[in-house]
Amino acid sequence: MAPFSQKIWIKTYGCQMNSRDSDTLKALLIQARYLIVENEKEANIALLNTCSVRDLAELKALGKAGRLLKRKGKEPNFRVGILGCMAGRRGAELLKVLPNLDWIVPPQALSRVPSLIYETLTQNKQTATVADVPQAFDFTCYEQKLSPKPVLFVPVQQGCGMNCSYCIVPKTRGHQQNRPFASIVAEIRQATQQGTCEVILLGQIVNAYIDKDAKKNFVDLLEAVQEIDGIERIRFMSPHPSFFNDALVACFEHLHKLCPALHLPIQSGSNRILKLMRRGYTHESVLKLIKALRAVEPKISISTDLIVGYPSETEEDFEQTVSLFEEIGFDMAYIFKYSPRPTTEAASAEEIIPEAVKEERNQRLLSLLNASSIAYNETFVGTKQEVLIEGLAPHGENKLFGRNRYNKKVIFNGSSALIGSFKEVFIEKATSSALEGRLVD
Ligand code: SAH
Ligand code: SF4
Ligand code: F3S
Repeated sequence: MAPFSQKIWIKTYGCQMNSRDSDTLKALLIQARYLIVENEKEANIALLNTCSVRDLAELKALGKAGRLLKRKGKEPNFRVGILGCMAGRRGAELLKVLPNLDWIVPPQALSRVPSLIYETLTQNKQTATVADVPQAFDFTCYEQKLSPKPVLFVPVQQGCGMNCSYCIVPKTRGHQQNRPFASIVAEIRQATQQGTCEVILLGQIVNAYIDKDAKKNFVDLLEAVQEIDGIERIRFMSPHPSFFNDALVACFEHLHKLCPALHLPIQSGSNRILKLMRRGYTHESVLKLIKALRAVEPKISISTDLIVGYPSETEEDFEQTVSLFEEIGFDMAYIFKYSPRPTTEAASAEEIIPEAVKEERNQRLLSLLNASSIAYNETFVGTKQEVLIEGLAPHGENKLFGRNRYNKKVIFNGSSALIGSFKEVFIEKATSSALEGRLVD
């Protein structure tokens, strides 16, 4: 079958890094003259860009791949690939559970996908291709033109060099590699020509960014993006508390484009658990950091990631997380029940916390979160907020959504012609997850 008549459907699991990788991959495939389809049924090729961070994430992708391979059984020309983090973690071993796969491609080999598809089709290969992990990540793949977006995720790193005891990411995406400074700035400049006005700098430890050759660090990067005409808002995720310094805190004061919203994954409030996790900071140092941030930006929105039920977590340890939660008052948090990841240090721990206890701790944090997020969001009711309109809200006719500078989702009535522009919205209502209002004339 001629390679370029192929219709490719891509499904993405996991974090923003994966979702940006899928956008980049779509651009690479379009440039190589493949067709991208939104409807799985129309496709001859299905690619799953997978996540391994928790067991459930893998199970979802495995289930989907199993169903796609059943279809392959009936349609021999249909082809299926597993890309991304699960391909990185499991490699050829995936063939034991999914024997008829056509491609297994780790995140670092993303830019090779178009040529791997071409090879398989032109050679009519009937066996799987398992892509190797390249020594150096090809960051130029992120310089492809994407479809216009008001808000652009911009990867500044690949992989992670930290060794958190519970985490699989260093094994799925490899060690930390930093994107050249000039490549990042060039991509953002180019994106402004297509209407991008907000960028979210992405990396697993984004604030540890460094370009040794160009002698630039993360603060230099923020300062350089601040200078780019057309960019009105800058955000970044996810920073690591240990790599925060005074210069970065001060950026929230002197860089007016840097939004007053920070997603700071803290994981636990217990110093004993933080040590076992190898996070390198303490309950007290996190409180000090938040205090410093609030001193320069009193209303800054703080969100976090927390893990409950890490092996050996006692009621006292958990109480420390509750107390951190109460002391900080997060306006958003992602709470995860610990999921053992094979080959990580924590997976061999013996003092496993029962599921019921994890669930109970999860619920306790969720109810605290509900109260603190509503309290924060209500502070916007009765105010005018500048909103960058990102698209149509999923529910309701003529409903648009965007975000204010504090990263709060705002929903209101308006015409789709407004997508991509900044508008003032008067906030009438707050829930724990969003603000609702009306356009100001
Ligand atoms: N680089 C980021 C996190 C990336 S993974 C950081 O260091 O903060 C995203 C989130 O998944 C983590 O913040 C953590 O809360 C959660 N996570 C990672 N491994 C996990 C595991 N084994 N079980 C449950 N949650 C996990
Ligand atoms: Fe995982 Fe830790 Fe790296 Fe974050 S910093 S990706 S939690 S190893
Ligand atoms: Fe992201 Fe999941 Fe990989 S969280 S980095 S897609 S393991």
